[in-house]
Amino acid sequence: MNRRTLLCGLAALPVAGCATSTARKTPGPGTAKPGDRLAAVADVPVGGGVLVDTPGGGQLLLTRPEAGTVKAFNPACPHQGTTVNPPTAGEITCPTHKSGFDPATGAVLTGPAPGGLVEVAVEVVRTDVVLA
Ligand code: FES
Repeated sequence: MNRRTLLCGLAALPVAGCATSTARKTPGPGTAKPGDRLAAVADVPVGGGVLVDTPGGGQLLLTRPEAGTVKAFNPACPHQGTTVNPPTAGEITCPTHKSGFDPATGAVLTGPAPGGLVEVAVEVVRTDVVLA
């Protein structure tokens, strides 16, 4: 092995601490505390939703089934843990095996998921969605 081969090989090794923006968030609130801001209400589209990073290193799915209601769910699919997609056409879907969930309740609509998404309590304070 010459010097060039050695350097190229080293460059291909993963380097600890060099995580990129693709680093996975922990599904759920993480270490966020009650009152922590999650998003502006206006950032959650009526009839849709958005994945948000929590101040505690977690990730939640916020949905807004109607103008006056904001819900939050742990986005981990109960089947095998894939992060579900925000709702479109009235349904939250899992990209891995296509389970579907109700954006208002998190209840499973189509399997193979054995149950619904776990709801996380949130409330609206003025114009923000905060952890309850
Ligand atoms: S991981 Fe979501 S349906 Fe299988």
